[in-house]
Amino acid sequence: MTPIALDPVRVAAWRSTWDAMMTGFIPGLAGLERALGTAVEALRGGPPRRVLDLGGGPGLLAERMAARWPEATVTLVDLDPVLLELARAGLPDVIGVVGADLASTAWTARAGGGHDLITAVMTVHYLSPAAIHALYAAAREALAPGGVLVVADLMPDDGLPGLMRVLDPGPGEAAAELAWARWWSELSAVPEIGGLMDARAALFRDRPPAGFTAGLSWHAAAARTAGFGEAGALWREGRHAALAACR
Ligand SMILES: C[S@@+](CC[C@H](N)C(=O)[O-])C[C@H]1O[C@@H](n2cnc3c(N)ncnc32)[C@H](O)[C@@H]1O
Repeated sequence: MTPIALDPVRVAAWRSTWDAMMTGFIPGLAGLERALGTAVEALRGGPPRRVLDLGGGPGLLAERMAARWPEATVTLVDLDPVLLELARAGLPDVIGVVGADLASTAWTARAGGGHDLITAVMTVHYLSPAAIHALYAAAREALAPGGVLVVADLMPDDGLPGLMRVLDPGPGEAAAELAWARWWSELSAVPEIGGLMDARAALFRDRPPAGFTAGLSWHAAAARTAGFGEAGALWREGRHAALAACR
């Protein structure tokens, strides 16, 4: 695809609105990021050196991890060409950006191995249960010994696998849904982004809608089946929780 030049001021504004939107979707997002940073440093006895963020979107978490751990190499993986472009344009020379589909395990070849930390925030609900199992196994292989996988998503306490829409939404979620629709509609009106929007539509056209959700115990069991020694809760706020699994 032909490289495009985006106005850095607009890119910063779009990324900032995305951040606000995700804060609406995930109650206590800042607390999750604090818990993640503290737990990873404690588990590893220091900062991670290689960090991979799966489904990192326009790179807000990746940016904050790069700021917290300035010596670390931080790489983001995503499929969406629009979000990949915002990550590249918003964080030149700060993080590595890799386009790959997490629904197949081919992403590991592109993202490399030896990572000390792999994160996936609000990403795995886009995948089928079988693809999540495969992702956990591939993530384990991509981690260095002692490395940590952190997966945060909708994980109701003891819910059975099912569809998100049957669960009660959090208080800020309706507003976040509206903000999401508005954000995408604003971007589709930007001429320079038109080609990426078309590519995005083609990529997501035949995928099932994002909606798989399962309890934290389901994710912990999936991580153990994938070969992780320890897997348990790192953080919880309402329906949202984070799993930490150690290689
Ligand atoms: C709700 S967004 C969360 C983005 C980011 N983690 C955050 O918290 O801001 C879900 C992300 O998963 C990505 N995604 C969904 N399905 C994917 C797939 N099959 N492969 C790679 N990325 C995928 C989307 O493009 C999007 O960036």
